[in-house]
Amino acid sequence: MTARNTIDDPHTGKRVFVTGGAGYIGTHTLVQLLSERHSVCVFDNYSNSSPQSLERVRRLVNHDFDQVEGDIRDEAKLTRVLGEFNPDIVIHFAGLKSVGEANLFPVKYYEHNVQGTIALLKAMDAAKCKRIVFSSSATVYGAAKYLPYDENHPLAPENAYGRTKYHIEGMLGDWVKAGGDASAVLLRYFNPVGAHESGLIGEDPNDVPNNLMPFISQVAIGRRDVLGIFGNDYDTRDGTGERDYIHVVDLAAAHLAAVGYACAHTGCEAINVGTGTGVTVLEMVAAFEKASGRKVAYRVTGRREGDVATSVADATKALRLLGWTARLGIDEMCASTWKWQSKNPQGYVQRGKAA
Ligand code: NAD
Ligand code: UD1
Repeated sequence: MTARNTIDDPHTGKRVFVTGGAGYIGTHTLVQLLSERHSVCVFDNYSNSSPQSLERVRRLVNHDFDQVEGDIRDEAKLTRVLGEFNPDIVIHFAGLKSVGEANLFPVKYYEHNVQGTIALLKAMDAAKCKRIVFSSSATVYGAAKYLPYDENHPLAPENAYGRTKYHIEGMLGDWVKAGGDASAVLLRYFNPVGAHESGLIGEDPNDVPNNLMPFISQVAIGRRDVLGIFGNDYDTRDGTGERDYIHVVDLAAAHLAAVGYACAHTGCEAINVGTGTGVTVLEMVAAFEKASGRKVAYRVTGRREGDVATSVADATKALRLLGWTARLGIDEMCASTWKWQSKNPQGYVQRGKAA
């Protein structure tokens, strides 16, 4: 993918349409987009977020942006709003992301994720917008045939959520091929954790957290009694699962780099976003205890179905194509999560209080 587009400076002053911008990764990316003087329109139905998160973004950066409540499955509204905003590029975060829920309600997941993306591409075609950065996931790889996962690793997702990402990736590849000078960057995130250093924005799961880091931080703050560790008999350093955790601020920076790349090149590229280093569950618990000064009670339970021993990225393609590499480590991940959690024990919804 080397052809140049006509867009002048690919890194500054773009009009960026952000679906799902009120969510965890979206808000962190917004902060950086606005700091770099891009013009932004957020399109979100707040099904897994709160408009308060966007108010926090406004408090953090001295720049305003457009904000529209809407569902990506509402093609008519999407087409109208996107057409009026007339973006240079779309960052597509909107979608549902719970693996367990996707296995129970697969059609709902195909509807939001796949059908929502079809509506988005039709709206982009109508507005003649030919560039997109998409939130994919390392889950598209499935069980490791070798480690670390590079982008040429076979794709064999093992759950319905992963299959929605797999189908969207394929669709975006076809859309780019048909579009001539179109461009798509498929960012395959490994395990996003952490929060903005201000403690103003962070991850705010609706219910009992499915993922490790929010669960640990809710135990540390006293919202939950004990962390269940899903198995200590894996073939890893200490027997617990090993993952490639990526700080959400680094992940946001990868989006900025991807926007620049997509504005300067045509074609479709899948790119891993990880650090290339694995951390086990017990290592994460110890790092969180150090960062928070709190004890994290845990109990080893049985393995969780569908879990693998180790998932680690080969992140060299991101460096080669985007000039991006992760800067923040496990201590910053834990310290920023703790700051967010301790400043906002109940997340964004401080019942009875303003955001
Ligand atoms: P999030 O739930 O915090 O953010 C998603 C946002 O999309 C929310 O604000 C939600 O209200 C919105 N949304 C959902 N369905 C919508 C719809 N039909 N129309 C409009 N808005 C809708 O999740 P996140 O962690 O910020 O993840 C963002 C993207 O990254 C998702 O596509 C997710 O699948 C992907 N991803 C996340 C992770 C992770 O661990 N967080 C890992 C890999 C990939
Ligand atoms: C999960 C998703 C994956 C998604 C990724 C994004 C599943 C099966 N997989 O991956 O599709 O792309 O999130 O972040 O949900 N753990 C515990 N106790 C807990 C929670 C987790 O011990 O309460 C362990 C897990 O076994 C794993 C590690 O912590 O070893 C990380 O788990 P998690 O945060 O859920 O991420 P993944 O399983 O990697």
